[in-house]
Amino acid sequence: MSIKVAIIGVGNIASALIQSVYKAKKGEKIEGLMSEFIGRYTISDIDFVAAFDVSKNKINKDLSEAIFEYPNIFPKITDLPKIGVNVSPGPVLDGVADHMRNIFNPHELNIDLNDVIDVLKSSGAEIAVNLLPVGSEKASRLYAEACLKAGVAFVNAIPVFIASDPERKWHKMFKENNLPLLGDDIKGQVGATILHRTLVRLLHMRGVLLEETYQVNIGGNTDFLNMMIEERLYSKRLSKTEAVSSILPYGKKLEAEEKIRIGPSDYIDFLGNTKIAYIYIKGRSFGGFPVTIEAKLTVDDKSMASAVLVDAIRIAKLALDRGDGGVIAGPSAFLFKHPPKQAPDDETAYYWFTRYVMTGEDIFID
Ligand SMILES: NC(=O)c1ccc[n+]([C@@H]2O[C@H](COP(=O)([O-])OP(=O)(O)OC[C@H]3O[C@@H](n4cnc5c(N)ncnc54)[C@H](O)[C@@H]3O)[C@@H](O)[C@H]2O)c1
Repeated sequence: MSIKVAIIGVGNIASALIQSVYKAKKGEKIEGLMSEFIGRYTISDIDFVAAFDVSKNKINKDLSEAIFEYPNIFPKITDLPKIGVNVSPGPVLDGVADHMRNIFNPHELNIDLNDVIDVLKSSGAEIAVNLLPVGSEKASRLYAEACLKAGVAFVNAIPVFIASDPERKWHKMFKENNLPLLGDDIKGQVGATILHRTLVRLLHMRGVLLEETYQVNIGGNTDFLNMMIEERLYSKRLSKTEAVSSILPYGKKLEAEEKIRIGPSDYIDFLGNTKIAYIYIKGRSFGGFPVTIEAKLTVDDKSMASAVLVDAIRIAKLALDRGDGGVIAGPSAFLFKHPPKQAPDDETAYYWFTRYVMTGEDIFID
């Protein structure tokens, strides 16, 4: 069995994802898998058939070499064979912020939508995974459009609102073309979002009235460096904030009163891919007494994302097999921070995910 995947943005997550899949293909032990099987598929069924980037360091190189090029820092965790897929140049658009030019080192070629469609078609890709830098609004939409035209499913790992577009424009177009769409903004395996949601849910379930909360994230890779520019962060803040506020019936009120602050907060070079999240929550318990929780989470940010992507890719394949088009909404609520419909808690999201896997029944989005 084969799941033919195209990668959009050959950065640190791509490196973690590709190496983990090859480890599995070689029969090496993979710790921390969330789902051994999704339908009939294991992670060793994933094959990488196309890849796009804009970096002169990466384009026209075999994927097995490109993932180790500067500025990627995800370590080598297995020996890779030559994959036989050269990284194709993609259109730069807004993928590279001014302060990232010297680091991403973009090409000056003239690449457009049709070039992307041609590569997708000739590679036989079935599913594309969007791993562009935060703030790549135009570039993400171009790749999504290329997928529609090439007949490829789209897994949107970043906070550009495509699956969760409030007008459901993309949902409708993918549905009309019988192509699955999953997103937006991948939720880490045990990342800050799921931990924060769980703590908030616990306090709410036990009757505590939440008054204020923040989540501060720091890290030392290009993802964090790119996010030092506040203008690129609008949708990231929205995605991370709504993922937590949606747990509370009065979450929107807390947002309006600016009592929730969540987002990437600093770049600290020596942290590399280690992400540290500080979570603070204050509320009132029975009789009005204060309850305060402060938690610190330390994880490898890229392992967190790739663990969930191997499930999202297999859900997209299952949806293709079943002829399901448009947003695969229940699984998106479990696997992504900003799905079109948030679950009230992660147990419900998990139920939606497993029900889709087992029966094909999905939740309804209007
Ligand atoms: N836990 C996580 O790591 C996590 C969770 C949720 C979302 N995300 C998001 O996933 C995305 C990828 O993360 P990463 O750490 O791999 O990023 P990265 O900075 O390592 O890689 C981004 C890659 O995109 C390339 N690129 C830039 N513009 C491009 C274009 N127009 N076309 C093709 N390629 C282009 C860059 O050259 C680079 O190789 C980021 O947006 C990140 O915020 C990450």
